[in-house]
Amino acid sequence: MIIHSAEFIVSNTDPSRCPEPVKREFAFIGRSNVGKSSLINLLVNRKSLAKTSSTPGKTQTINHFLINEDWYLVDLPGYGYASITRSKHRSWGSMIETYLKKRTNLLTTFVLLDPRLEPQKIDLEFIQWMGDQRLSFSLVFTKADKLSKNQLMASRKKWEKTLEDTWSELPPIFITSAEEHKGKEELLAYIKSLLTSD
Ligand code: GTP
Ligand code: MG
Repeated sequence: MIIHSAEFIVSNTDPSRCPEPVKREFAFIGRSNVGKSSLINLLVNRKSLAKTSSTPGKTQTINHFLINEDWYLVDLPGYGYASITRSKHRSWGSMIETYLKKRTNLLTTFVLLDPRLEPQKIDLEFIQWMGDQRLSFSLVFTKADKLSKNQLMASRKKWEKTLEDTWSELPPIFITSAEEHKGKEELLAYIKSLLTSD
């Protein structure tokens, strides 16, 4: 799919103030610093449309980017960021949960995972929550450049094994690197397939 335009529309802390849910959208979620904002920039071929940082906790709001004047990519704040206050943690959690549950135009959510880590409780709990809510999602490994092919394969296997304990069917899985521009075409093709079948 060709991206001919990508423009920042609005940042929100209140999910009810997001753009009218008339255009379809795709959200990006995952632990702080996993690479959500970087992945959006990779997809739209822009260096810093979504703000990134080596310090976790950069994205603190719900950010809508309008793509091809037709659909949105949505950059969400990360979960599991240890050094924010408990009250902020709670309010981010409820902001994200409300957004995901109420957003009628959300086609699917990409749950980003760091393949360098063993399956983490916080990610598994989030995935379980998505399932409990009957929300569509797929899994995206980020920072693939940090591992060898074999290590990546092993990590993917471990995740698949862990998920097979609870799920009868695995979600789509993508492997990406914003650093090495990997996985972009696969993700865009998947997005396109959802836009055309919807
Ligand atoms: P929050 O907004 O804080 O939740 O983080 P985020 O998930 O949006 O992560 P962000 O895109 O800001 O990236 C975090 C750090 O990881 C930055 O220093 C990025 O340069 C780095 N990073 C992101 N993607 C990749 C990647 O594919 N490879 C490598 N090596 N580094 C990456
Ligand atoms: Mg971010």
